Amino acid sequence: MTRTPVIVMGAGGHAKVCIELLRASGKQVDFAIGADVDSGECVGVPILAGDANLARLRSEGYTSVFIAVGSNSLREKLAGLATEQGYILVNAISPNATISPTASVGSGVAIMAGAVINADSTIADLAIINTGTTVDHDCRIGRAAHLAPQCALAGNVLIGERTFLGIGTKVIPNVIVESDSIVGAGSVVISNIGRGVTALGVPARSRLK
Ligand SMILES: CC(C)(COP(=O)(O)OP(=O)(O)OC[C@H]1O[C@@H](n2cnc3c(N)ncnc32)[C@H](O)[C@@H]1OP(=O)(O)O)[C@@H](O)C(=O)NCCC(=O)NCCS
Repeated sequence: MTRTPVIVMGAGGHAKVCIELLRASGKQVDFAIGADVDSGECVGVPILAGDANLARLRSEGYTSVFIAVGSNSLREKLAGLATEQGYILVNAISPNATISPTASVGSGVAIMAGAVINADSTIADLAIINTGTTVDHDCRIGRAAHLAPQCALAGNVLIGERTFLGIGTKVIPNVIVESDSIVGAGSVVISNIGRGVTALGVPARSRLK
């Protein structure tokens, strides 16, 4: 069997987890591209310092990339850079995640161990569904959103693009959290949250700027 090797952008803690997910699904990771100052290796993968390496590796024939960067806006930006250069965004999905056959999952998505995606839910490109997070039926998770570990979304929840839910966030059914918002760790969201807002607590309330 031939395997198409993958380049990972990012060389931090999130990249470590994603490289191990890629390996667990049978993919070979040849290089991790870090910041200009990074060197050494990331869970056994050699680190190349600087984004310029992306174009060089493309010219050497690499075609598959995974963007393993936690910042939602930076992940989206780097994905744009990679696709402009002709890269395909692969997924990093744990074999220990449970994904409904009626759910749909975009590209460049990370779904970590213990995550559950239930019926008719949609996970858009570049989203992160972190360790042990559950997304119940009919949810829509926007492009480059990040649900941190142990979040629990009830049915028909909408999470906007680039929105971040901190570790352990719970969301009751039919709630909308709009784009570019942040929900603090341990919050319980019981009503809609607007765009670009930071909300905290139980129940979650918007923090005044
Ligand atoms: C919400 C969050 C982003 C705010 O960060 P911040 O802007 O640096 O906020 P600060 O730490 O300065 O705290 C500001 C105030 O909010 C409160 N606060 C912060 N996070 C809170 C939370 N999750 N729930 C309730 N209150 C919180 C602080 O106690 C502080 O209150 P005070 O002004 O009365 O003293 C951060 O606290 C958080 O929860 N991050 C989630 C991290 C996470 O889950 N990472 C997972 C990575 S995979």
